[in-house]
Amino acid sequence: MKTLDVALGERSYPIFIGGQLLGQSQLLAPYIRGRQVVIVSNETVAPLYLEQLRTTLSEYDIATVILPDGEQYKTLEYLNSIFDGLLEARCGRDVTLIALGGGVVGDMTGFAAASYQRGVNFIQIPTTLLAQVDSSVGGKTGVNHRLGKNMIGAFYQPQSVLIDTTVLATLDDRQLSAGIAEVIKYGLICDEPFFCWLEENMSSLLARDETALAYAIERSCRNKAAIVAQDEKEGGVRALLNLGHTFGHAIEAGMGYGKWLHGEAVAAGTCIAAELSRRQGYIDEATVTRIIVLTKAAHLPTQAPAELSLSCFNEWMAVDKKVQAGKLRLILLKGIGKALITADFDIALMNASIEACRESH
Ligand code: NAD
Ligand code: GLY
Repeated sequence: MKTLDVALGERSYPIFIGGQLLGQSQLLAPYIRGRQVVIVSNETVAPLYLEQLRTTLSEYDIATVILPDGEQYKTLEYLNSIFDGLLEARCGRDVTLIALGGGVVGDMTGFAAASYQRGVNFIQIPTTLLAQVDSSVGGKTGVNHRLGKNMIGAFYQPQSVLIDTTVLATLDDRQLSAGIAEVIKYGLICDEPFFCWLEENMSSLLARDETALAYAIERSCRNKAAIVAQDEKEGGVRALLNLGHTFGHAIEAGMGYGKWLHGEAVAAGTCIAAELSRRQGYIDEATVTRIIVLTKAAHLPTQAPAELSLSCFNEWMAVDKKVQAGKLRLILLKGIGKALITADFDIALMNASIEACRESH
């Protein structure tokens, strides 16, 4: 097992990464405050792993909240069902919430923990690759709004993150690829050697080679923990983690939450960002090709859907969280491993890049 630290002063916490960790109560007990534990999961993950976790935590009073499965349920309405569960179980301020699931369950449970009785403890047990390499670390929590993705939420750090790589065995191939989109992101924004490693090892990752997966998870979490430690609330460098996300969120919301997976939308969005970086003169054609080749090798889309028009893109992008003083800011690339946030780009080139990276009808 590997242990990483997210260094945030008094809000610091460990990330445990390894196989078969779900059965190890000693990794959870130090982060549970009182006797009451509420496990939040969904109707897909609960039948697979809830009993095992219950057995591990048999010395606690456990209640469960089982959400429906899907991005379309990442809403205030379903967040409320977590509060219903907490109040029905008469949970006090010393309750500990445990998120057992992918990024949807993790983001919702974290936001519930941030707001229930003005803040209670929570633990992340991410069960998708995407959640293991990204969403469970760093304390971004929240829900979607019909007018914008992740628009309602809070920065709220967990007490610990338990990454059991064994649970990836039940994840389907499409979801595995979606997680790889966020893995590629770290290579692109800050870790060129990792990008080169991914170029060499993509087939091992897709084949679920345990060593390769464990390495990619650890390196991704290291990169994320380092960025979050520098900029917890996204005043600066943390925004780089949104590479491809402004375009990606437009795809996710514009197509209807749940149709395109988050990682798929980020992959296509990253290709648009790469194309715009080339048109701005920041990177050459060969670099864009490397990004597209790696994205395709991960079985991820490199183009946005044809049915999402340019004007739809522009409308969704106008509510991006990086808009400042009415001006959109984007993450662009100056090379592999070198990203910048900038409002200084040509809108016409951006629109041309979106058009160039849309599937043809
Ligand atoms: P998800 O939570 O919808 O999970 C994907 C699917 O896999 C679901 O059907 C789920 O039930 C299933 N699943 C989960 N674990 C499984 C397992 N071990 N075996 C079989 N099936 C399993 O999606 P996701 O990709 O994990 O997360 C996407 C969400 O995360 C989006 O809402 C996105 O906005 C958010 N996100 C948040 C952050 C952050 O920093 N907070 C970062 C990236 C993404
Ligand atoms: N996933 C982007 C962030 O955590 O900042």
